Amino acid sequence: MTAVSTPPRNDSLLRALRREPVERTPVWIMRQAGRYLPEYRRTREHAGDFLTLCKTPELACEVTLQPLARFDLDAAILFSDILTIPDAMGLGLRIDEGHGPRFERPLDGVAAIDALAVPEPAAELGYVLDAVRLIRRELDGRVPLIGFAGSPWTLATYMVEGGGSRDFARIKRLIFAEPEAAHRLLATLARAVGAYLNAQIDAGVQAVMVFDTWGGVLSPRDFEAFSLRYLQAVVDALEPGHGAGRVPVVLFTKGGGQWLEQIAATGCDALGLDWTTSIGAARRRVGDRVALQGNMDPAMLRAPAARIRAEVAHILEDYGPGPGHVFNLGHGIAPDIDPASVAVTVEAVHELSRPYHAAAR
Ligand code: CP3
Repeated sequence: MTAVSTPPRNDSLLRALRREPVERTPVWIMRQAGRYLPEYRRTREHAGDFLTLCKTPELACEVTLQPLARFDLDAAILFSDILTIPDAMGLGLRIDEGHGPRFERPLDGVAAIDALAVPEPAAELGYVLDAVRLIRRELDGRVPLIGFAGSPWTLATYMVEGGGSRDFARIKRLIFAEPEAAHRLLATLARAVGAYLNAQIDAGVQAVMVFDTWGGVLSPRDFEAFSLRYLQAVVDALEPGHGAGRVPVVLFTKGGGQWLEQIAATGCDALGLDWTTSIGAARRRVGDRVALQGNMDPAMLRAPAARIRAEVAHILEDYGPGPGHVFNLGHGIAPDIDPASVAVTVEAVHELSRPYHAAAR
């Protein structure tokens, strides 16, 4: 048996994603490897920049493991970025300190859209797959490794805007004025994301998460037409992984609280929730179909330890007894957070969740 097919020793994340019993609620943190950790800042300084970290498997592996050395986390997440796909499509990604991501060659019209090709993961994103294999070897089965990609819609926003955006003026002009070209772009991206996630699964990731960070800026009808439809295409494209059954897939639409039923109907295994939705109400709506991941306000990590513990207790109580909950923040951790607040959160989840899983013991 190869290392890749050995089951993880702490498999509570995978069990919770399948809504199977666990002894305590598993927890990981979006952006758990990042600038709030001094050791991350040191490794990045040594590497020179963020993209070098992503493109050097040994360094990506090192920073992936950093938060696990500090905190009792129940999962590792591949250190990379959602924008590796557009970078591989030739847009020229730059991530400058303090300015966020930028593309040197954003999509500036229909001709540029029609010239895009789906990257061959093994050739153009081989550095990500090498990182996955190395991380799996170094993790040695301690906890599962999560792979990820951006949703087609979220990738399209960055590719057409050329970077982050406040009003999404260009991408919205495209979907409203030239919907056929927008659909061609999204279909190409759905094929690229599906192939990329399948390659990550082949290389050894044990769960995958799709970040639809900007789905929530669309009207309900446009969400269905321009984001949900392509999330569905990605779920449909996923192949079974190593070992038994399909690798669980988590869909996270930030601001998507009003569309949980539709997102669950894609056939995904779990929904990521931001903090604007009650996790208890979400469970009553879709908890018979999917697991739920979330959903503490990331700003809570600036509060004193007692307030953080009280919030963890509220969220665990809101979800209630039984399986199907993966604790996380409702969005990524910010660079100014004190790592001690993450330790408080992880300990509180493990300690305070035990009574909710009494039937599992
Ligand atoms: O969660 C993890 O630890 C895995 C690593 C990860 C990163 N980006 C590392 C990163 C993941 C899962 C992502 C996903 C990602 N990237 C998303 C979706 C999730 C979300 O936050 O909504 C998006 C929209 C991006 C695009 C992106 N990449 C942005 C907006 C930025 C700038 C962030 C900032 O605060 O400046 C990046 C860069 C980036 N990706 C950093 C990290 C740790 C910071 C880079 C640095 O070291 O300066």
